[in-house]
Amino acid sequence: MHTLATVAVSSDQVPPSARTNVPSVLFVDQSGQLGGAEFSLMPLAATWGARREVLLLSDGPFRARLESLGVPVSLACEASVSGIRKDTLRLKWLGALPGIVRQVRAIARHAESFDVLFLNTQKALVLGALGKPLHRKRIVWYLHDVMSCEHFGPLQRLVVRWLTRYAVDHVIANSRASADALVALAHCAPEDVPVVHNGIDLEAFNSRHIFDIGALRRRLGLPENAYLAGLFGRLAPWKGQHIALEALARVADLHLVLVGSAMFGEDDYEKALHEQAARLGVEDRLIFAGFRDDMPAWMKAVDVILHTSTEPEPFGRVIVEGMAAGRPVIASAAGGVTEIVSHGRNGWLVQPANPVALAEAIETVRRAPEMAQDVANRARDDAAQRFSVDTYLNRMTSAIAGCAARAHDA
Ligand code: UDP
Ligand code: GLC
Repeated sequence: MHTLATVAVSSDQVPPSARTNVPSVLFVDQSGQLGGAEFSLMPLAATWGARREVLLLSDGPFRARLESLGVPVSLACEASVSGIRKDTLRLKWLGALPGIVRQVRAIARHAESFDVLFLNTQKALVLGALGKPLHRKRIVWYLHDVMSCEHFGPLQRLVVRWLTRYAVDHVIANSRASADALVALAHCAPEDVPVVHNGIDLEAFNSRHIFDIGALRRRLGLPENAYLAGLFGRLAPWKGQHIALEALARVADLHLVLVGSAMFGEDDYEKALHEQAARLGVEDRLIFAGFRDDMPAWMKAVDVILHTSTEPEPFGRVIVEGMAAGRPVIASAAGGVTEIVSHGRNGWLVQPANPVALAEAIETVRRAPEMAQDVANRARDDAAQRFSVDTYLNRMTSAIAGCAARAHDA
């Protein structure tokens, strides 16, 4: 990072629309799919108080969602670049070089008429920051990842370290855990990586309304009278759905619904989950629901919500959503999760990748439904206090506007 003073991210009182000097922003995201980083960009782009546009590096349902919110979207797709994944980075980037150069130029061209370039994903960071000599715009990077060697290879970590030091003007991290990993990697000052947690549409998830759970389960095709756990999120090895299946095999009469799909090429993992379920003999107690658009309904339909990531989760929107839905949440104690859940107060934390501990926690919650509901009620209040969309938008706006203001002062 250029040596920047810390941005004040505390002026929560002023609504974004009431601010003056809101800079125009080009938001860049590599994905057309609906992942957590994309959900977090939606309200920001939709309510931005000055000219803005989202540039996507792949097409997909994210584009339609943004357009339905009135956000102008443009595309700069390169199949060879979209094909590069974390695990194939070393093999593929050379072949994709012409596509990389084209995308760097396309982002720089788009950025010309904006004050700030806001990079929302890893590839957007690399391609947007490499083009800095062309566009010379202030770069804000919203970091959604824990940049540890468990999550990323040496080449990617090296590139990110270099870009953080020399091209990015301002980083905002989605959790303290993500911030700390970047500080360790890039040796920047902790105060140069402020944290802005995601905001969740609490109203949409709030379950204070009276619901006929039986009717809801019938509508969703879920077992009406079973004790039902739900695991929400894309199917990927590090999201740990296999750990939930092992726990399922250990808890008598428990049913489990997996909501989410293999979004980024993890089809082999999905297949392996089906095979594991057959091997464990739990197929009749397991439902693969696929990707769903109505998460609040699915969350309200279950008795307990599981989060099973085996690696430190950078933030974990699904955890806050589960809390907002008023359901007891059992989550993996690593990464940003420990900034959200406090064990026994507003949820349960278990050791990551430990199906025995997970099964025990499920039994604890099942045995004491009243205590579980007390904890869930506290969680709903905590979610409302700490993770509102308004707070998120105000903090992001302050951070972005602060970064742009320094460009004018310089
Ligand atoms: N989600 C969804 N439908 C699904 C599965 C997930 O809408 O079938 C949403 C979920 O509500 C959450 C996001 O996808 O807002 C996942 O974000 P999270 O931060 O939990 O994980 P990520 O996938 O970004 O690592
Ligand atoms: C990423 C992370 C997830 C986080 C989301 C939003 O996709 O994997 O943990 O909640 O970004 O910041």
